[in-house]
Amino acid sequence: MRPKRVSLVHIIYFSRLALSSDQAKRSAQIDDITRVAQKKNEFSVITSLLLIEGAFAAQVIEGERSSVHETFDRISADQRHRDVQICEWREIAKREFVNSFKCAQRGSGNENLFAKANLLPMFQRGTPKSSAIHSLAMAIQADAMSRQGIDHLFV
Ligand SMILES: Cc1cc2nc3c(=O)[nH]c(=O)nc-3n(C[C@H](O)[C@H](O)[C@H](O)COP(=O)(O)O)c2cc1C
Repeated sequence: MRPKRVSLVHIIYFSRLALSSDQAKRSAQIDDITRVAQKKNEFSVITSLLLIEGAFAAQVIEGERSSVHETFDRISADQRHRDVQICEWREIAKREFVNSFKCAQRGSGNENLFAKANLLPMFQRGTPKSSAIHSLAMAIQADAMSRQGIDHLFV
């Protein structure tokens, strides 16, 4: 008999970053976030992907209900971003992301995927669709995995 599964949820939110305007400092701040988030998410069995496009961030966080809520409460109180708004909160049948925390910033390696998703105007209007954030996060993960020769998972 299969063991009973935990109740899984995901939260998709977006926010406006309040990071340093100095590139080196901004990079160090993102590294700090990544280091802490990886450790904490691993401990809480959270899987997630953070997208950064210009001054905006959007993240999919998935895991057991109370762990996701605790994590989100911490994230939303963080002074390194503001105007944190949930786009979607719902139960999910299974996890879709493999890493405890992965950060993808728009750049030369993923320019086509960010361009296709075209999130920036939606962020600026304050009305990004959760499906658009989710699709881009999935596409970034699939691209990263395929570069590592992993094409057969999560189909
Ligand atoms: C955009 C953004 C995304 C973040 N994502 C996570 C995350 O997925 N998990 C996490 O534990 N902390 C994340 N953090 C960091 C938390 O806000 C917080 O600083 C960290 O969890 C440490 O919390 P504590 O000092 O209350 O222990 C994120 C911060 C920002 C600004």
